[in-house]
Amino acid sequence: MRRDALAVLCCPACAGALVADGDAAVLDDGAACCAACGARHPIRGGVLDLLGAPRPATAAQWVNELRLTAWAYERTWRPHALSLLSGEPFGEAREAALLVAAVADAPAGAFVDLACSSGRYARVLAGMAPQRTVIGIDCSAAMLVEAQRRARVARLPISYVRADALAPPLRPATAAAVVMGGSLNEIADAPGALAAMARSAMPGAALFLMTLLGAGSTAGRLLQRLLQPGGLQFFDGAALDGHIRAAGFAISDRRIHRSVALISGRRHAPADSGG
Ligand SMILES: C[S@@+](CC[C@H](N)C(=O)[O-])C[C@H]1O[C@@H](n2cnc3c(N)ncnc32)[C@H](O)[C@@H]1O
Ligand SMILES: [Zn+2]
Repeated sequence: MRRDALAVLCCPACAGALVADGDAAVLDDGAACCAACGARHPIRGGVLDLLGAPRPATAAQWVNELRLTAWAYERTWRPHALSLLSGEPFGEAREAALLVAAVADAPAGAFVDLACSSGRYARVLAGMAPQRTVIGIDCSAAMLVEAQRRARVARLPISYVRADALAPPLRPATAAAVVMGGSLNEIADAPGALAAMARSAMPGAALFLMTLLGAGSTAGRLLQRLLQPGGLQFFDGAALDGHIRAAGFAISDRRIHRSVALISGRRHAPADSGG
């Protein structure tokens, strides 16, 4: 991770500032310490761990902790996921173009990919804006090891942090863009996750979400019902829009391709009425 990312992050225990020894711009191994409560958070292989021992809550999260899942995710499922789910050609370049458009006129500041897995969105963001601080957050250590490996291979300066997307260790109103690809379906408290994204986002910050809605077909509904006990949930489109707006975002672009929703928005200032 990069030292400059510490200016955006904070201690998960007390929200104090995090500092690291030395003056190296890139922190590979060591620790970030809280200037307020003294907690010592390890940095291993370039990844800052703010969670401690693994504690997956659902079957889906347990699967995400496996090294095999992390290895296979972008090699198998991810490149084809949107085409399979939408029923039309929807490659990674098409999805990335929507992500780039959503954050193109974001204010100055850090870009944050929440529940980033192996960092697909974080790499797109770092590639389009190499001068920005780009942070990827996930609770799976295995996913973050793979994310860090991919960022190194691509020579992209992304800072990966193991933390809970429901309580992201970000200073309030510091993120210029908050993005989340496919993970809202795995997070039990989706309104809580959106509210956490809004707290981290500065006024005018960009939002980009890719998430899955309830299927329209009988077979799709049956499959989704089978996946629900594993910790996955599928949204009603209007309810999801309501959660996004209630969190403090105005929706600027909304594309639905079967059960795939791609939503762009803006964090409005607390006094704004939103959209
Ligand atoms: C569908 S994958 C994410 C895909 C990735 N964003 C992408 O665009 O390819 C879901 C990810 O969410 C993470 N996750 C689930 N709940 C989380 C939480 N509460 N905090 C942080 N990460 C979480 C899992 O570890 C997993 O890596
Ligand atoms: Zn602290």
